[in-house]
Amino acid sequence: MPPTVLQESHTVRKNDFAPLIECDDLLRELIACGGPMPSDYAHMNRALRRLGDAVKAGVIAREDVIAYSHDITSRHLEGTMQARALGKKYGYSGDFEIIEAIYTMQIAQEPHLRRWDLYFHSQAAPNAVRNRKAYFHQLLNSHSAGRARTPLNVLNVASGPARDVREWVLDNPECEVFFDCVDAEAHAIERARKLCAPFGKRVEFYHRNVLRFLPTKGYELVWSAGLFDYLTDRTFVFLLKALMAVTKRGGEVVVGNFSDYNPSRDYMELLGDWVLHHRTSDQLRALALEAGAPADSIEVMWEPEGVNLFLHIRR
Ligand SMILES: C[S@@+](CC[C@H](N)C(=O)[O-])C[C@H]1O[C@@H](n2cnc3c(N)ncnc32)[C@H](O)[C@@H]1O
Repeated sequence: MPPTVLQESHTVRKNDFAPLIECDDLLRELIACGGPMPSDYAHMNRALRRLGDAVKAGVIAREDVIAYSHDITSRHLEGTMQARALGKKYGYSGDFEIIEAIYTMQIAQEPHLRRWDLYFHSQAAPNAVRNRKAYFHQLLNSHSAGRARTPLNVLNVASGPARDVREWVLDNPECEVFFDCVDAEAHAIERARKLCAPFGKRVEFYHRNVLRFLPTKGYELVWSAGLFDYLTDRTFVFLLKALMAVTKRGGEVVVGNFSDYNPSRDYMELLGDWVLHHRTSDQLRALALEAGAPADSIEVMWEPEGVNLFLHIRR
């Protein structure tokens, strides 16, 4: 039986709904044969692109697509990464559990769900998330290199599971690097504390909203990934100013933000209801200028997928 949204809308404007019907047909076909194989990915991506175009053109209402996604996901794909994103357990898609699941490539055990998670993890966006962990590690390597016994203080803003911190410290047990991690979600802090428990005082946690509180110790490196792309421009500038203020002279603020080049955007927005503020390099540069960064202190870099941009500001 077709999902409710299609039953209701189908007779009203059948042609307008063609991209949604096409997507539904394909999803049902793939569900029936145990999930998409890699040879089906391009077909899925094309159907999602057409659906995304119809939503952007105002031909299909976004709410109808989201209602459809909830319907088909709850009937057939419960337990997949897609269902977890859509479920918004902590109030929004992309919470620390999802990020942790992306880092560790979690895949459902049930045979009829496995291929859906493989499809999820094959996309550019989860690859970019995994790449940004490596990007942070490279930054830590370069900032800590040649400091001998001079400690490096790092502020990790919206630290989530802090798996990135854990992995780096495990690989660099002798380094004099101290992390202050701030996150607004109590469960994220609890999870991160467990992951970083072996490192004692080298990693401190603050359960706080970074828009209201930042530790003011003074840092050589301030890092934030997976937060600024949820912020409006106004809040972006407000928080960036605050991060610049706690960065020592000679130090660096590095902020991640998804770029407008994101091949997974339709999948994320339509099947995961995962909406971000995608920004171009020029937009990031303009926001940094607005926050008071001198033009020659700003640089925008990216990870190998080209999906996650990194705004660097030298102090
Ligand atoms: C997408 S996760 C990113 C986690 C981590 N930075 C990473 O890349 O692995 C976003 C995190 O931001 C936290 N967060 C969202 N808004 C926040 C705020 N205003 N203050 C502090 N943390 C916040 C969430 O609780 C969540 O853990």
